[in-house]
Amino acid sequence: NNRVFSGIQPSGDLHLGNYLGAIRRFVPLQDSHECLYCVVDMHAITVWQDPDELRRATREVAAAFIAAGIDPKAHIVFNQSQVVQHAELAWVFNCVARIGWMNRMTQFKDKAGKNSENVSLGLLAYPSLMAADILLYKAGSVPVGDDQKQHLELTRDIAQKFNNDYAASIAANGFDPEFFPITEPLIAGPATRIMSLRDGTKKMSKSDPSDASRISLLDDADKISKKIKKATTDPEPLPSDVEGLKGRAEADNLVGIYAALTDASKQDVLNQFAGAGWGTFKPALADLAVEVLAPIADEMRRLIDDPQTIDAVLRDGAERASILAEKTMLEVRDIVGFIR
Ligand code: TYM
Repeated sequence: NNRVFSGIQPSGDLHLGNYLGAIRRFVPLQDSHECLYCVVDMHAITVWQDPDELRRATREVAAAFIAAGIDPKAHIVFNQSQVVQHAELAWVFNCVARIGWMNRMTQFKDKAGKNSENVSLGLLAYPSLMAADILLYKAGSVPVGDDQKQHLELTRDIAQKFNNDYAASIAANGFDPEFFPITEPLIAGPATRIMSLRDGTKKMSKSDPSDASRISLLDDADKISKKIKKATTDPEPLPSDVEGLKGRAEADNLVGIYAALTDASKQDVLNQFAGAGWGTFKPALADLAVEVLAPIADEMRRLIDDPQTIDAVLRDGAERASILAEKTMLEVRDIVGFIR
């Protein structure tokens, strides 16, 4: 299966983790796969979003896709809410998935905290919509960061249960018994989990109250440099091999960032910097980050300044995605027994 799907939420500012763990890895897949990259605005509203801010953030994610090198003509870039079949298939999956599966999701537990009775029902059902995103296009591979692993396992469980529950009807309608594919997560490389610059035990995230904990894709060169130079580290020099990064979360993180920004491995980076102190490594990393990120930020700003063009890209992508989505939904409606 040659189709790739991935999504990014338009909630808050995009950061280096989103770029290295996801967006940067979306780019080379275009050479070998048919790619759909989606701004998942319906996922974003599982927690309250100001409508103007949601529009702004949706355009920011679309701009990041394009600025990073995704070609919206050769592939599909769109926002989820414009393809109504996502909601429709998610409803079917809500009826296939079990509440217990959703309750076990660590991201739900983290987001809901102790107050799980008072979060939106959408937040609980979130993975069901995510499974719909992927399976609507019968995508075979999904490039994501490490934090999405559990959601992708659930996607496989939903596909499997649908295929089983409806096996007789799938056969009666003449479809392949593996109607929904068992999707492969693509979680690889040195940057599957970028950590906070302030605390090597915490993931870099949009919701961290400390701006210094993350590099935002729209940060200017000066800010990027300052944040890297201020990043928390231990006092030891860099080791000569990756074994030496064990138990050194902050060092491991910065080496991983350097590696991902040059498409190298952590060992490659250590071959270059073994024995160097932070006074050498941090300025080198800061220069590299600016060199890679500044052109992307410039292009993003240029695109964001022209919202009509971005909106047209999203509309065109949605039209093309809808054709693929409707094909699957025609089949699903027949399988489930909906008269049409
Ligand atoms: P989201 O919007 O939280 O994050 C977007 C992508 O960025 C990755 N990521 C990271 N990677 C490395 N280090 C980090 N610190 C880091 N933080 C975020 C995420 O793993 C993700 O790949 N549920 C998804 C969105 C989604 C989706 C989908 C993804 C909805 N439907 C279908 C794939 C397929 C999410 O909240 O990602």
